[in-house]
Formats: sequence, C-alpha cells, structure tokens
Amino acid sequence: MTSASTSLLITGARQADGTSGDLFVADGRFADPADAPAGVHRVDADGLLALPGLVDLHTHLRQPGREDAETVATGTAAAARGGFTCVHAMANLTPATDTAEAAEYVQALGEREGHCEVRVVGAVTKGLGGSELSELGLMAKSAASVRVFSDDGRCVADSLVMRRALTYVKPFGGVIAQHSQDPRLAGTDACCHESEWSGRLGLPGWPSQAESVIVARDVQLAELAGSRLHVCHVSTAESVEVIRWAKRRGVQVTAEVTPHHLLLDTPLVAGYDTTFKVNPPLRTSEHLDAVREALADGTIDIVATDHAPHARQDKDHPFDVALPGMLGLEQALAVVVDVMVNTGRIDWPTLVRRMSSTPARIGQVPGQGGRLAIGEPANLVLVDPSARAVVDADASASRGRNNPYHGRELPDPVVATVFRGRISYQRG
Ligand code: DOR
Repeated sequence: MTSASTSLLITGARQADGTSGDLFVADGRFADPADAPAGVHRVDADGLLALPGLVDLHTHLRQPGREDAETVATGTAAAARGGFTCVHAMANLTPATDTAEAAEYVQALGEREGHCEVRVVGAVTKGLGGSELSELGLMAKSAASVRVFSDDGRCVADSLVMRRALTYVKPFGGVIAQHSQDPRLAGTDACCHESEWSGRLGLPGWPSQAESVIVARDVQLAELAGSRLHVCHVSTAESVEVIRWAKRRGVQVTAEVTPHHLLLDTPLVAGYDTTFKVNPPLRTSEHLDAVREALADGTIDIVATDHAPHARQDKDHPFDVALPGMLGLEQALAVVVDVMVNTGRIDWPTLVRRMSSTPARIGQVPGQGGRLAIGEPANLVLVDPSARAVVDADASASRGRNNPYHGRELPDPVVATVFRGRISYQRG
C-alpha cells in the first residue's frame, strides 16, 4: 500500500491550530514548498485537516505466534487506514517478548513488513508469569530500544515484583504500563462489568474496584520508586479519581483510555455477542462520563486502542469462554471525533496531543508526534472532519472481524496517511 513516490506536494490543507499552507515532502521529511519541482506528485487536500501521524501505545499484532489472528503486515495496514504512523506491539505474543532477542525479532519484522513504525513493548515478567523480572535492561539496550514494558492481558499482581520493575527501569527512563485488574477480586472467569447487567444476564462480573485498587497501589509504588507508571485502558470513575489524586501529588503517572471505553457501554453485552467481550469489560454510563471528562481535562493523557484481533474460532464460543478483545485501530479516530470533538469536549489541537504527541512522548519515540515543520520526518494524516460512513467489519485491513462498530454510522475521517514521506493509505 505504501506508494513509490518519494516526493509529494500536499496543497490546501489546514493544520489543527488553524494555520494553512502547502506541505512539501521529499526524501521522508518536510521540505520547503518553494523547492517542489514542476510535475511533483500533488495531493489536493482542500477542505482537509493535516495532522501529525497518530501514535498508538497499545496494539496487539499477534505475530509471532497467532498469525491466523493478525500479522505485522495486516495489523499495520489497519493502523495506516486508521491514520496511525506508529504502533506499540504488546508483549503477549508466542513466545512472549521477554528477551532482547525476542524484542529485536519483533522490531525487525516491523521494519520489514510494517505499513507504519512498530515499536516493541517488552514483557515485565518472564513468560508474563508475574513472578520473575524479564531482561528489562537488555531489552532497553537492544536494537529495539525498548522503553515501555507491560504484561498486558495480565496484571503484575505481586506488589514486590511491581516495585522491583518500577525501580529497575528508572535509570534508563523506562515506563511500566500496567493492566490493572486484581486477579483475586476480578476472579478468573469474570467477563462482564459487575452490575445489575451481570446479574440479569447470568454473566460473572468484575467490579470497577478490581481495577482501581491496583491503580491505587501502583501510583503509590511509582511514588516510592520515583519511577514512571502508565495505566492501561482506564475504564472506571474510581480509577480516574485515584489518577487525579496521584497527579496532584506529583506522581509520575500517565493513563490511557480506549475508544471502546469512551463509546460502548455494558448493555451491549445483552445479546451475548462475543464481539463485545473485552477486558476490562464495557462499563456503565456513569463510568463512560467519567473517562470522557478525564480525557478532556487531561487526567487521562492519551487514547490508546488496545486493538485485539482474534481468530473466529476463538470468538465463536459461549460468552464466558470466548477470548476477550476487540478491534480498534481503524475506528479510533472516528470514535474520538464523534465522542470528544463533535460534542465540543475537546478541540483539534487537544486531539493531536491525546493521539499523537503525548503517546510519542510517553513511548519516547523520536520522529513521531512532532510538528509538520520543515526538516521533521514526514508522518501525517489527512482528515475530512465532516465525512461519515457506516462501518463494515468485512472492509477491514485487519485479519480480525471482531469489530464492535460494525453496522454503526460514525465519522469517516481518514483520507490518507503518509508514513516516512510515502503514502501508506489513501481512500479509494
Ligand atoms: O480484551 C483484551 N484483550 N484485553 C487485554 O488486556 C488483552 C487483549 C488481548 O490480548 O486479546
């Protein structure tokens, strides 16, 4: 999908701050439009917004190990369609990314097959087992230059292991990204938000406090270690309150919310459609209100997709047995535009911070999330702010069909994506 053209002149686009002017891209970087040669490949972007390429801090690419669910090529093609120029590949692969060699392997796959930059997330503990730290320092020093570590899918539940991980990554500025889910309180078979809905549907539920007790513990451990914590997929009002409190104390904590926790609520599971099974579970409206407000006021720093493709045979089961997870990359921007921008909760410059510059800063990714300025790497997305369309799961570039937005009318903002100066996706 990446075009062969090495120079492009994008005309007529506005930027998030309201400024406009032609953008000339040559040899992977923004250059002076006055230097564009006659006959250069032109992209007419009249009426469109040009934003820095989006950066996802939380993506499941499934390769190596579950190429029937997703590959680096298909997952990053979905990313490009969604306007992303960088994703972070979570460590719950087979084998888990818990050594320098495994990290370098995933990074090399990304360089070879990716339609966007693939940064590697290292496992916090060996085999995601929760008891023994992985090669955190060696992964950081490796060619993959790992900065974010997570056992996502599982919580680092042992407080001492979590303290050691935070302490260990501090000297090289690493960040521990926690899947906050107390395994005892949530239980092993819970698959629904504990509420009248779990009772009525007969689905084992987990309470919002199973998330917030871990967040409360971890912000205190981050303060104790003087180290950086990132809270994955915040889904509850209680977690938001704890993060707000920790930020006021000066704790180095950042947090993300997924598109699905911004838009989708618990009653959707009433049809037992396993597409809506996800961890943490879809919550009720008061929690949605809290995470929306927190994203607007900056308590939640970023949107991250938790794009979690699954093979059909892993979803075609009774609700309590199916694997949790849903797609996110292709509709992430659409959901944020719908829930946050079109409702006046945030403006476009804030959206750029939440989906591009701040995730790039947390992940310490050079060359992403920057300004569209001469000399900078040319990573950008062209956005039509008013287009709308009905989502079709079968039109996805992902291998997964577990798209929770299928059949829903949403904004359809992504017109084209440019990664390292080449078109990685263009509508039509
Ligand atoms: O629903 C989820 N699916 N939540 C996670 O944290 C992991 C993910 C997966 O890997 O499928």
